[in-house]
Amino acid sequence: MSEKKTVLFTGAGGFIAGHVIPMLMERGYFVRAFDNMTRGDRERMNEWAATGNLELVEKDVRYGGAVREAMRGCTHVVHFATVSINKSIADPHESIDINMTGNHNVFAAAADEGVQRLVFASTASVYGDPERLPMHEDDKLRPLTPYCITKRAGEDLLGFYERQKGLSWNALRFFNVYGPGQKSEAYYTSVINHFITRLRNGQPPIIDGKGEQSMDFVHVHDLARSVVAALESERSNLPINIGTGIDTSIATLAKILIDAVGVQVEPQFNERDVLVSRRAADITRAKEVLGWEPTIPVEQGMHDLVKLHMSQAAG
Ligand SMILES: NC(=O)c1ccc[n+]([C@@H]2O[C@H](COP(=O)([O-])OP(=O)(O)OC[C@H]3O[C@@H](n4cnc5c(N)ncnc54)[C@H](O)[C@@H]3O)[C@@H](O)[C@H]2O)c1
Repeated sequence: MSEKKTVLFTGAGGFIAGHVIPMLMERGYFVRAFDNMTRGDRERMNEWAATGNLELVEKDVRYGGAVREAMRGCTHVVHFATVSINKSIADPHESIDINMTGNHNVFAAAADEGVQRLVFASTASVYGDPERLPMHEDDKLRPLTPYCITKRAGEDLLGFYERQKGLSWNALRFFNVYGPGQKSEAYYTSVINHFITRLRNGQPPIIDGKGEQSMDFVHVHDLARSVVAALESERSNLPINIGTGIDTSIATLAKILIDAVGVQVEPQFNERDVLVSRRAADITRAKEVLGWEPTIPVEQGMHDLVKLHMSQAAG
């Protein structure tokens, strides 16, 4: 009989984890949820703990001893605990501390424990401002903020433990994740909540410049599937883009949301020079290595999100 798969999941109380963990429990994993609960959803953790398929270890990834102890007996690791990009600009010290030390504690303990696979949440922001679209994993990396720098360093550190101790890993470069449960202050995707709130008050979305700047919006449900695939794939030790390959401009997003909310308004353009940045992932590697493809078109995902906002407001 095969041993019970146990996954150490750092940042388990967060937005994306909330979509990955049910899939893991469904697949028979026991989840050791490691989170200091600074941003975690305690009610959700308690609910899952009550099923007997999850235990909460309320500790901090900066403490190597705590990570080591929690790693004992784990067969898999998902490492998500981070402070976000906005906090990293305001407080580089905290960001370096949590992200760099935290990454190292988790990777070193996983390598020593001999886990079967570790999945690391990296980010599209490791590319900085891309020179071309779609962005490919082998393109030059120019991370611009402490957060992005620690994500890139995390990928390099995984390479070190692979060479030193045979650690098997995948680093997923998430593009612009959106969907139910997202916190409203999310750095890139906060524009979605902001537009929805204005539209529901009958106000037009306000767009800086011509709204040409774009993002590659990937639905959190699709993204969660990629994490499970990366934990179980035959191939490993790669950075892998997780997006849709489609760049949606802010002007297009505004139209999609106006349609979804069903109000008769036109977006307002705030005439000023803006730095136009664009994003779209080359997802060839995700398809080849993980057998993963996104399934939720951005129009559908945004419509569903608006419906959810409406029903929550009504309830
Ligand atoms: N949301 C996105 O659009 C996006 C894009 C690219 C990459 N990512 C990455 O995906 C991962 C998950 O993102 P998310 O949006 O779900 O984040 P989130 O902020 O919702 O969740 C992070 C969790 O980590 C926990 N945490 C923070 N500091 C900790 C510490 N020192 N010790 C233990 N736990 C700690 C928090 O309490 C929280 O529950 C992160 O690594 C993030 O960098 C997210």
